[in-house]
Amino acid sequence: MPRVVFTPSGLGGEVPTGTTVLQAARDFGVDLDSVCGGRGICGRCQIAFEPGQYSKWAIDSSATALSQWGDTEDAYEQRRGMKPDRRLGCCAQVCADVVLDVPPESQVHRPVVRKSLDLSDVVLDPAISLSYIELPPSVLGDAESMSDLVIAELLAEFGRSVTHLSLEALQEVHKAFAGQDRAATVAVRGDTVVAVWPGYTDRVFGIAVDIGSTTIAGHLCDLLTGEILSSAGRMNPQIRFGEDLMSRVSYVMMNPGGDRNLTAAVRDALNELIAELCRDAVTESTVSPDDVLEIVLVGNPIMHHIVAGIDPTPLGQAPFTLATAEAMSVPASAFELAGRHAQVYLAPCIAGHVGADTAAVILSEGPHRSPTMQLLVDVGTNAEIVVGNAQRQFAASSPTGPRSKVLS
Ligand code: FES
Repeated sequence: MPRVVFTPSGLGGEVPTGTTVLQAARDFGVDLDSVCGGRGICGRCQIAFEPGQYSKWAIDSSATALSQWGDTEDAYEQRRGMKPDRRLGCCAQVCADVVLDVPPESQVHRPVVRKSLDLSDVVLDPAISLSYIELPPSVLGDAESMSDLVIAELLAEFGRSVTHLSLEALQEVHKAFAGQDRAATVAVRGDTVVAVWPGYTDRVFGIAVDIGSTTIAGHLCDLLTGEILSSAGRMNPQIRFGEDLMSRVSYVMMNPGGDRNLTAAVRDALNELIAELCRDAVTESTVSPDDVLEIVLVGNPIMHHIVAGIDPTPLGQAPFTLATAEAMSVPASAFELAGRHAQVYLAPCIAGHVGADTAAVILSEGPHRSPTMQLLVDVGTNAEIVVGNAQRQFAASSPTGPRSKVLS
């Protein structure tokens, strides 16, 4: 009989060939939702199916491990749409050994991931500044381009020296200054105008995200006031490829192209998180991902490499060589993230298994600024520990196990 394993719970066992995934889930006490009782109407029973080798369970999940896509799934897909890797649990039947993931939205008891943030000691110094400028009327024969005029006005009015407008800003500049008063607000990062909005605006947003092995948590921040406008979190969907970091690296080693699946999964989750943070923002007017100009990402070295689309397999074996320990600053589009004006800053790693998340903790807590000895401990699926003071700091990391249990 074929064996089925459900992640993230790890529950499963053998079932007769032809058992529906929903029935198998019920047999093994897996938390898989169903509102329509298996009629293919509600879509609550969706599972994610990714063929590949899962060494943890010694299962080679082939593409034919589930029955073929049927008419009911077709009808549901046309009505409501489904992600490419999804199947309806009440329709798909188990044909061979298979590993299946129950995504959070299909769980009745889905985890609510919230990580609070205290910014009371932070001094604002955003990389972005806004300037409201009015351009002089232009007449036939003027030789200056719109970008010449904007650059000149920024220098004359604000003493700001910028060299150019980004492509996105150039695509907006004519429309933004098209009003009668030829007035617009420009956003400047470094020597570049990165966004232009018609008239006056004083809204500029940033998002900070910690990509953990198990959870991804983010905050949307008003960069002018420092106010946190929304916070959200979700499970890291890479869990279906392995609960701990080494299982995910071994998934990539055993499945050619598996690194692309991991990268796509985390980038999808980040886009969902960005959309949720914007939707939930507590502001007078709506926030869209295009209003977000800064995105800061941190994570352990394997998450760091995967989100950047870098092969993480060298981090699975000694000497654990990083592709780079440097910080990266790239347009959001390079990571396939929402936000046409956003720049992504991926914080630097420290060593093979001490990553950007630890670098961010050090920056925040400041042992390197402290005359007294500090001990910082981050207990997650992977734990990091830092000890030190202004003279010297040491850091180390260790897996803590994929899941923690409260023992009573
Ligand atoms: S249980 Fe409702 S669609 Fe499958």
